[in-house]
Amino acid sequence: MKWSSFGKSLMWSVPVVIAVSMTTITPPAAGQFRKATRPQVIRPQGAVWQVIRANCTECHGIDDYAYYALDRAGWQKLIDSKHKGAEVKLSEGDQNLLLDYLVEKFGPGSKPFPRTYIPPEITTFFSDPEAKRLLDRACTECHPLDRVDKSRYPEEKWRVVAVEMREKGAKLSDEELERLVEWLGRVWGTNQDK
Ligand code: HEC
Ligand code: HEC
Repeated sequence: MKWSSFGKSLMWSVPVVIAVSMTTITPPAAGQFRKATRPQVIRPQGAVWQVIRANCTECHGIDDYAYYALDRAGWQKLIDSKHKGAEVKLSEGDQNLLLDYLVEKFGPGSKPFPRTYIPPEITTFFSDPEAKRLLDRACTECHPLDRVDKSRYPEEKWRVVAVEMREKGAKLSDEELERLVEWLGRVWGTNQDK
């Protein structure tokens, strides 16, 4: 959210905040008006996509799956508990396909995407050498930087990747993450013909 629209929504919400603050709720800090970064899940191929498309996507997308890292029983329980009253009935074969996919992609060995990363506002931007230094320090312990060089993403997608990498173990402060994301979007974005 841009600061101009933030100002507007704050104005609109003032009466609500006053009314509510008579009880116990305190107004949220300014940062909480900005949206948390959401995961982006790439659509799977093949039969499992047919199962998901036929049974799941009429109500919501697949990105939220990334908030979980569960074993088979855990996935089964989660899906049951989230859809009480709604009909999400699958044949045994389809259910197995779905659970195979969920456990492979979002199993207990994976890292759930955090629900609460809110990008901080940055006011200074990386030069190429600054960005390279951070990449060398924070990213090369697990894989070479060709993972980065081979990718072209818009800034929002780089943010998702960077948040995922931090969950895996990359050591980055919020500020470093955001400055890196801005640089990646600028230098390894989708509008380049590098
Ligand atoms: C009839 C509508 C509907 C269908 C069909 C449906 N869902 Fe949902 N699903 C919901 C709603 C509503 C919620 C939120 C419930 C809540 O948070 O209490 C939800 C929540 C979820 C969540 C948790 C999301 C989160 O952020 O915590 C997962 C995972 C999920 N659904 C997976 C599936 C899968 C897999 C299928 C197909 C087998 C499916 N859903 C089909 C309505 C649906
Ligand atoms: C703790 C280990 C670890 C660190 C540190 C790490 N990565 Fe990764 N990275 C991985 C693993 C594992 C994969 C493969 C994940 C997959 O394919 O699902 C990966 C995949 C990637 C990919 C390709 C996946 C995609 O969605 O495009 C990119 C790009 C990437 N990493 C960038 C980075 C950057 C940038 C940093 C530093 C900020 C970093 N990584 C630090 C473990 C790490």
